Amino acid sequence: MELKGQAFPDGFLWGGAVAAHQLEGGFDQDGKGLSTADVMTIGANGISRKITDGIDPNEFYPNHNAIDFYHRYPEDIKLFAEMGFKAFRTSIAWTRIFPNGDEDEPNEAGLKFYDDMFDECLKYGIQPVITLSHFEMPYHLVKKYGGWRSRKVIDYFVKFATVVFKRYKNKVKYWMTFNEINNQTDYESSHALFTDSGIIPKPGENNEKLMYQAAHYELVASAKAVKIGHEINPDFQIGCMIAMTPIYPLTSKPKDVLFAQRAMQTRFWFADVHANGFYPKWLLNHFAEENFEMDITNNDLESLKEGRVDYIGFSYYMSFAVKDTGKLEYNESHDRVDNPYIKASEWGWQVDPVGLRYALNWFNDRYHLPLFIVENGLGAVDKITSDKKVHDDYRIEYMNNHISEMKKAVLEDGVDLIGYTPWGCIDLVAASTGQMSKRYGMIYVDEQDDGTGSLERYRKDSFYWFENVIKTNGSEIG
Ligand code: BG6
Repeated sequence: MELKGQAFPDGFLWGGAVAAHQLEGGFDQDGKGLSTADVMTIGANGISRKITDGIDPNEFYPNHNAIDFYHRYPEDIKLFAEMGFKAFRTSIAWTRIFPNGDEDEPNEAGLKFYDDMFDECLKYGIQPVITLSHFEMPYHLVKKYGGWRSRKVIDYFVKFATVVFKRYKNKVKYWMTFNEINNQTDYESSHALFTDSGIIPKPGENNEKLMYQAAHYELVASAKAVKIGHEINPDFQIGCMIAMTPIYPLTSKPKDVLFAQRAMQTRFWFADVHANGFYPKWLLNHFAEENFEMDITNNDLESLKEGRVDYIGFSYYMSFAVKDTGKLEYNESHDRVDNPYIKASEWGWQVDPVGLRYALNWFNDRYHLPLFIVENGLGAVDKITSDKKVHDDYRIEYMNNHISEMKKAVLEDGVDLIGYTPWGCIDLVAASTGQMSKRYGMIYVDEQDDGTGSLERYRKDSFYWFENVIKTNGSEIG
């Protein structure tokens, strides 16, 4: 099929994606409480961020001020409108609404901030697409309850969700519950457990068990929120958010193929529960074999059935590969191998546009639900010229190649795709490293890793390129 000249379906949601803690700043303003993102220091390429016990005045925390979207959002949203955005994905910082997470009443100043910000989007016909928990939760819930290791947090999350669903029921249609809930599959990484679940493992604890228990509570919380959301506004579309990294067998050796299949099951069972409303049998068998005494009640199982998601939101940056290890259980921290057919970004992320078409078809065949690509992009070092231009042809190439595969999935394979909101449409603080220098944006922000800079915004070459993609509804992409 000749793709050039053909447009995406009418109403396709082109836009961009960010998360509250990575761009807002204003970490202690207007009653906001401390979030888990506020106790993470800056790292570097290959060096993890430290998680400190509260705020250490000798450390630098890049999320505290981020790019000051909290005060500059009208200017930023105007730039998104200039690019032609139809959708803007961001998250609500739980700590602006419930500073500690366990209060009786929400913080009105926090609610008002999102009211005003959503109004600014709607003024330009941009739909807010909202994640409830994007890698953050009130730090108080971590200190007092141990984060998602506690069942009590389900109620606090559901209360938070209910408050914002009611408040924004006429402003927001598309919601997602937990960002990249399946990243904690890499449970040996303290970063993954902390950002997904606010968990700091204690010496001698079994991280794998901790991860499964926390994920279970999150899935129950998500399902309860979905059910309540639909009662508040039956038009709500509430999705999950999965980090999609297809896992390929390194060779066609049957044992490599079988192992890759188990790796996919291990990384994506979260989506099975979100979409199907029940646990896959292989995982229940795994809990039994490992003697994991899971706290899963009959009421929980009922909730899971009642709160199935409306669509699958997912991020896509890279694919993984694995080979037979002589055992069936996949350990994400150890079992990945380099795919010799794919080049990696400067941060080691294996760039694989064809994998996006594969992923879209995989999700489509498995769940028969609408899909929404809510993150995709290239983290790269950008150079700004003396006349304030950024010639980011590498980013344009990355996006062009991914959109081309996405187009094949939609037009040739018949996948039902709602939209495409590339990550970090404006430069922001990287989640994994806390760096500003790992830039994804189509808008450059003058800020360095140490927080210095004028915070001025400049349009990159990719800004004009994406503006044209949206204007032509993707028809010039071949
Ligand atoms: C996803 C997250 O993992 O990837 C975002 O949902 C994150 O929060 C993005 O920023 C890119 O990762 P990083 O570490 O390069 O910012």
